Amino acid sequence: MPKETPRAAVLARARATLDGLEQLVGGMGTSALALIALTGVAAVAVACLAGVGLLLVPAALRGLRAVADRERARLSRSGPHILSPDPVPDGWRAAIRQPAAGRELLWMVQHATLGLAYPVIGLTLPFSAVRDLLYPLYWRLLPNSEVVNAGLGWRTDNWPGALAVSLLSVFWLVLALIFIPILARMQAWHGRRLLAADPSTDLALRVTQLTATRAAALDAHATELRRIERSLHDGTQNRIVAVNVLLGAARRALARAPATADEVLERAQDAAEQALAELRAVVRSILPPVLDERTLPDALSGLAASCPVPCEIDAEVPGRCPASVEATAYFVVAEALTNIAKHSKARRAKVTVRRTDDRLHLRIVDDGRGGAVEDGGSGLGGIRRRTEAHDGTFALSSPHGGPTTMNVSLPCGL
Ligand SMILES: Nc1ncnc2c1ncn2[C@@H]1O[C@H](COP(=O)(O)OP(=O)(O)OP(=O)(O)O)[C@@H](O)[C@H]1O
Ligand SMILES: [Mg+2]
Repeated sequence: MPKETPRAAVLARARATLDGLEQLVGGMGTSALALIALTGVAAVAVACLAGVGLLLVPAALRGLRAVADRERARLSRSGPHILSPDPVPDGWRAAIRQPAAGRELLWMVQHATLGLAYPVIGLTLPFSAVRDLLYPLYWRLLPNSEVVNAGLGWRTDNWPGALAVSLLSVFWLVLALIFIPILARMQAWHGRRLLAADPSTDLALRVTQLTATRAAALDAHATELRRIERSLHDGTQNRIVAVNVLLGAARRALARAPATADEVLERAQDAAEQALAELRAVVRSILPPVLDERTLPDALSGLAASCPVPCEIDAEVPGRCPASVEATAYFVVAEALTNIAKHSKARRAKVTVRRTDDRLHLRIVDDGRGGAVEDGGSGLGGIRRRTEAHDGTFALSSPHGGPTTMNVSLPCGL
């Protein structure tokens, strides 16, 4: 496998930093809402001490649920889907006893405090970099007291000092590249930990989720059958009808003008060969036979080799996964690479496959123009349905201007 070049590593880091910044700013919005919810809940708690606040408890928890749901939706856009719990009941006792209420209250406190601190720190770093970089342009305009010594150990009221300050921007930039992705992960971690449905207490939710994925599996199955039926009907069946008609014509020609029969038989043979080729293509699209002969990484390398956009495959998959999981992984990568070739205008793409904790993780990245949307066609929706049918997760990030990253995780079920 070719190693990542330093330039590609820096670009990847810069992208992760921009993604992190976007997530921190998004998280700052819900942090501000969490702060408002915290004030409301605190006011209701004080009113409860006077006895009159109990009636307001369900309303306060409903407000908190609305804020938590916004955060759930935000986190679901960049990772596994987080389901909202059952609605808050009407009575104050039942509302407080709801298992999700305690975790949402804890999340509210963390998100309104730490959740707000992370983006503030994260935004300060690039801001400081720009401020120091531009220092030589504006130091003359500053009042004397601010420029003589900025507490840096050198005088900043002259040109060498001002240029030394502008070099500090490199330091801030390096800090930003290192810490912004970490801060974004920490901010999301609290939400993922406290807002996700707890499988032991929220069994009803888990059943709802499984019912939804089972429906999606049946739907995907029906769509697949319809696709196979259309391919057989529009392709193979038409060719065999043509063979039949040509054979009839050949028989008549044998009786009337035997010299022309040979040409008609040749056309019938061509049509039979085309029918065979179509049939092979349909069979291949049901379960890729390449997975019978080769391992998943080899099969994916075959896909990458036929992709018009240069594509690197980085796969570490010890052993074999169940056939249905490998087939799903194969189709996911096939559709993603087709999309990259069709829509992305990318210069290169990379497919990373890992098997950890008995899950198969796929990551497909391209450096194209972005803007992929699930409801733009049937391919991405099909990937989600196939993945969820396996109880796996699908996440797509494709801001305008790129890059497009698709993360799919499939349980290997062993
Ligand atoms: N890698 C990508 N880069 C940029 N845009 C993309 C990418 N993948 C998908 N898109 C956009 O998202 C839309 C939806 O993709 P999807 O695969 O669902 O449909 P499609 O490729 O247009 O049609 P189908 O897959 O059903 O033949 C596409 O029409 C395209 O505009
Ligand atoms: Mg497509």
